[in-house]
Amino acid sequence: MSSLTNKQILLGVTGGIAAYKSAELIRRLQDQGANVRVIMTAAAQEFITPLTLQALSGNPVHTTLLDPEAEAGMGHIELARWADLLLVAPASADFIARLVTGKGDDLLTTVCLATAAPICLAPAMNQGMWHSPATQDNLARLSQRKIVCLGPAEGSQACGDVGPGRMLEPTELADLTARQFVRGELSGKSVVITAGPTREAIDPVRYISNHSSGKMGYALAQAAIEAGARVTLISGPTNLAPPERCHYIGVESAQDMYDASMQALSDCDLFIAAAAVADYRPANAAEQKIKKTGQDTMTIEMVKNPDIVTAVAAHQPRPMTVGFAAETQDVVSYARGKLERKNLDVVIANDVSQAGIGFNSDDNAVTIVWPGSEETLSQRSKSQLARELIERLAEKLNA
Ligand code: C5P
Repeated sequence: MSSLTNKQILLGVTGGIAAYKSAELIRRLQDQGANVRVIMTAAAQEFITPLTLQALSGNPVHTTLLDPEAEAGMGHIELARWADLLLVAPASADFIARLVTGKGDDLLTTVCLATAAPICLAPAMNQGMWHSPATQDNLARLSQRKIVCLGPAEGSQACGDVGPGRMLEPTELADLTARQFVRGELSGKSVVITAGPTREAIDPVRYISNHSSGKMGYALAQAAIEAGARVTLISGPTNLAPPERCHYIGVESAQDMYDASMQALSDCDLFIAAAAVADYRPANAAEQKIKKTGQDTMTIEMVKNPDIVTAVAAHQPRPMTVGFAAETQDVVSYARGKLERKNLDVVIANDVSQAGIGFNSDDNAVTIVWPGSEETLSQRSKSQLARELIERLAEKLNA
């Protein structure tokens, strides 16, 4: 499986003859499982039509910043949040210069400013323009901002010159884009993640559960795999396919999840409790389906479930232990209380009362609550967020 599987790649196309290769690049990214959306600058549309790239990407092509209709659909901020990675190919000398200055004078530069996703550039220009001190200086400054330059290749150019400045071929660009997702900050480490809801049986056909989709836990598992970790994903029932290259343990109840978690601790450096575990379960699950009676009310006695993350934090040897706090008010102060009460290393807090983030949605926004400090990561896709969380956790683990 490629690291591009299910990745959301925002392809920026700027004005240059190499723009014709962007059409094939879309295909090569899709071959590796990526979902591609395209932004074209005005100059790019002089070289290739939006219609071509729309047909190939299967998504509308975005061309303008100040179009109320387009903004009402997927506007510049949504695009910035949607992207797992922004690849500008070809990246012209002019676009690179505008990126350096931090201008937001068209849709592509604005999205580059707004996104928290990594940005890669595939420069394409005449060899003289490539060699110019201005371009070289601009690229050095972008590299300080961790913007990655892919290529260019050397060879004969459309203008007849020979030298560096050719855009890399689409297949190579797709491979290099995939490689951006493979990092090593957790290599040699073992990570255990709980995810999804639990189901607490009332009888053989009924249960008590919650709305957790499992998306955040699964995104964390994927990001940890890409960071080089051995990952065990212990999940309640969800509609998601487990990431490949992870050890997947499917469970139903909180007690099952507790048992699987305790077993997994024999090899665990980092434990992330992203599951929405039921706090209580019916004291006695009926062996046969409970029948309706003449009574208007029914009472089910509930007993407390074991607190998995608390047990993990009390275990010796103790892994670095991370909890989640989904709250509807006073999010950070409740999270801090949880950090102390459960003896955790960090709590990832999110406000589930806000529309568009948290439970069941594709986006999330969180505050990372460490003992003594906090950091807020604003709204972005769960997979972008997962990568950043894994980076922060790895930094702490490796410190
Ligand atoms: O106590 P509360 O449910 O708000 O705490 C949430 C955190 O504790 C989450 O990380 C969740 O996965 C974990 N938890 C657990 N076992 C439970 C309840 C919550 O691991 N029984």
